[in-house]
Parts: sequence; structure tokens; C-alpha cells
Amino acid sequence: MARQFFVGGNFKMNGTKESVKKIIGYLNDSDLPAQVEVVIAPPALYLGLAVEVNTQKTVAIAAQNVFDKDAGAFTGEICPAQVKDLGATWTLTGHSERRTIIKESDEFVANKTKFALEQGLSVILCIGETLEERKAGITLDVCARQLDAASKIISDWTNIVVAYEPVWAIGTGLAATPDDAQETHKAIRAHLATTIGEKQAAEVRILYGGSVNGKNAKEFKDKADVDGFLVGGASLKPEFVDIIKSRL
Ligand code: PGA
Repeated sequence: MARQFFVGGNFKMNGTKESVKKIIGYLNDSDLPAQVEVVIAPPALYLGLAVEVNTQKTVAIAAQNVFDKDAGAFTGEICPAQVKDLGATWTLTGHSERRTIIKESDEFVANKTKFALEQGLSVILCIGETLEERKAGITLDVCARQLDAASKIISDWTNIVVAYEPVWAIGTGLAATPDDAQETHKAIRAHLATTIGEKQAAEVRILYGGSVNGKNAKEFKDKADVDGFLVGGASLKPEFVDIIKSRL
């Protein structure tokens, strides 16, 4: 079964009511290919607005993060049920900015992922190594460790998309080369085959993230294990549409 091309847009902590409407307007005004699944993640405050203004059937809305528990005394957190209440259907978990700045552990990320799935959200689970880890030659060990925390407690990966985002490539303008991304994606898939089984590993989509833009997206076109992208900075601009169309 061919894996459907997937493009995620992570707005991070950017935007206002006006700019979120404008960015979604770029998508609304475009002739998006029906075969590409698109998911955009505005800041949580604008999830409801994004759901309201989006007119594209192939575009779904995601939170950037959720908590691993339901309603209760958890000041400042948001739960999957609230994300769903606003009409969003996805969440990111484990983005490197949360792992490094907010110090989220592999276990916490895995617990959030499991809880979000149980609550009916689909999840973009982000993994990836830092520059130091890459230099030390432990890229795959790091990715495996981050994935294993999740596969230990989650057996059904149908509603998970994995995003491989090397930390050194995020927001730096220094994207991984298509060959490097392919090599790592292939190794990630091979590792997943040993933990979640060959069938699920063959079906799970693995996105590349880190300085993807309207120009370089096309260069990944023939990379068999690169099933799409998770885009930060460029998802705020009209060129996001070029990335969505990069496989045509
Ligand atoms: P970038 O971010 O495209 O701005 O490098 C990617 C991400 O963090 O998801």
C-alpha cells in the first residue's frame, strides 16, 4: 500500500488572529492536490479560529502539544478533549523545542502520545538528534530511544505519523541533504519493524523536518522513505503551497 504524501505546518509561537486568517487564506485560495494530506498546527489559542476559517477538505488542524491527563488541576495545560472540542483532530508531540527548552522526557512524550491517541486524536510524533549527538555518531540510537519509549506503551501505530527532525536543521536554513534524510528514514523504518512489526513499520509515514522550503522540497521527491514534511518557518508563507505541491 502506497503511503499518502503528508505535509504538516507547525506555526510554533507565531501569529495573531489576523495573520492566522491570512496564512490559512493562502491554502483556501489554492488548488490543493486532493491526494496530499495537510495538517496545520497554529498556537492553541487559534485552534478554533483555524477550524472556522479553513475551507479545504484535505486540510486538518492540529494542536502543537497536549497534556497526558484529562481535565483537572493542571494550570496552563490543554487536554486532547479540549482540542477536539474546538474541532481540531491532530496534535504534535515531542517537538524538539519542547524536549530541549521545556525539558520533556521521552517517557512524558510517550505518555502524551498514548493519551492523545486514546482520546481520539491523531499524532505527529517528533524525534531527532542534536548536533552533538550527530557528531558523536549516535543519531540512530537517539531516534530509537525516543521511538522505543512510545512503542513500549503503544501497540497500534495507525494514527501516528513520525516526524524526523534533526535539531541542527530546525530553523537554521541548513536542511539535511535528501540522501542523508533517506538514509536515516530507512534506518528508522527498519528499527520500527523490530518494535511495532514489519507491517506497521511499512505503513507508518515518516516525515522530514528542518528548514524545508518551497525550493528544496522538490529535491526529496524520489526518496522512498521520505513520506512528506513537517514545516516550520515556511508554513507561515505562501511557499507552503509549493511544498504541498512538491510531489506533483
Ligand atoms: P523549520 O522548523 O522548518 O522552521 O526549520 C521545522 C519544525 O520545527 O517543525
